[in-house]
Amino acid sequence: MTDKHSAEQAYSDFSKRLSYGDYLRLDMLKSAHQPITQAHDEHLFIAVHHVSEVWLELIVRELQAAMSLLEQGITDAPLKMLTRVVRAQEQLTNAWEVLKTMTPADYLQFRSAFGQASGFQSQGYRMVEFLLGNRQAVLLRPHEHRPDLHAPLLAALQSPSVYDLTLRLLSARGLPVPAEVLERDFSQKYELNEAVLAVWLTVYRDTETYWDLYELAEKLLDVEDNFRRWRFNHLTTVERTIGFKRGSGGTSGAGYLRGALETVLFPELWEVRTRL
Ligand code: HEM
Repeated sequence: MTDKHSAEQAYSDFSKRLSYGDYLRLDMLKSAHQPITQAHDEHLFIAVHHVSEVWLELIVRELQAAMSLLEQGITDAPLKMLTRVVRAQEQLTNAWEVLKTMTPADYLQFRSAFGQASGFQSQGYRMVEFLLGNRQAVLLRPHEHRPDLHAPLLAALQSPSVYDLTLRLLSARGLPVPAEVLERDFSQKYELNEAVLAVWLTVYRDTETYWDLYELAEKLLDVEDNFRRWRFNHLTTVERTIGFKRGSGGTSGAGYLRGALETVLFPELWEVRTRL
């Protein structure tokens, strides 16, 4: 008699059923793992980039879904989606721990093989930045040769960011967000506005009345906090791997990435802490 908890009970004939590998298209997924050298560490390098791109794709979907609900004035479901973004960012940041096991000598074994390819050209990463509001039209350039990647990025650049939609929500609740902020040129980076800061002060001084807006603001801060951690860990990993060499994507490398640490996505949400 077989034990009722035995593996013998499991389904075994998948000739006419959808199997795990078929459902997840694992053949297709694994076929993307194509090192171009014999270097052992190139496997690690490709795997960490692939995993990161999968998380970025999930983050884009969650942000877009959250934004479409915020546009309709809904705040509860977006909070759950933004929490998922925060958790996915933690996974992205943890990936550096695996990649850090690669030394400069290991990296040099395959570095010259991939030429000018760089994460700088990651459409998924740029989409996340554009949705969050870190916008510069020049960053569209590496995607010009691929209209299918360029078009959604351009559309995101010209549309309100998650923070612009949050400010609309404040305005819809009767809080005095200036018209010039609500109707700003979305293709530009958002700059701190004193009147918006005053609105956030109202929210943070009366959290009971504005609980959902306050919760949303703190969730956005979590997202930016995690983004900063990712950037910092990327920079540290880059410095320990290539030092101050030029990046494969053509920027100054560590200097460029250090500059990006100055980025502030939601300026009033940081400043409100000083003014409270
Ligand atoms: C040892 C591994 C890595 C090195 C040496 C490295 C190096 C660099 C450098 C030097 C830059 C500046 C742009 C350039 O000129 O290339 C850059 C940008 C970038 N890298 Fe990496 N990188 C590494 C791993 C990764 C991984 C695993 C990801 C995950 C997706 C990633 C994503 C990015 C992104 C998104 C940018 C653009 C950042 C921005 O524009 O603010 N990098 N990387």
